[in-house]
Amino acid sequence: MLSKIPVILEKMEKEDIDKEILRAGVIAELDAINLYEQMAAMTKNHTIKKVLLDIAKEEKTHVGEFLTLLEREDPEQEAELKEGKKEVQELTGKGSVTRSASSH
Ligand SMILES: [Fe+2]
Repeated sequence: MLSKIPVILEKMEKEDIDKEILRAGVIAELDAINLYEQMAAMTKNHTIKKVLLDIAKEEKTHVGEFLTLLEREDPEQEAELKEGKKEVQELTGKGSVTRSASSH
């Protein structure tokens, strides 16, 4: 199920609209990743699966682009992303989140 843009952008305060646009962009790209990965899991056609997973990977780049812009527009978000990473490292004792071996 795809998300809907969670706010009516026309009604946002001018100072917040770019942050809202960038957050909506992150949401849309994350939804796209899920959609393409779900479709890749559904198809038996290896070529279609391969292309869908490649596109899903490209969407992850798009998440990074929107996040980079969001961090510029919202310094609090940038700080809290770092804080969240630190908290997970403290809780898990690991320097970075490990990848699941079951992922593709
Ligand atoms: Fe995208």
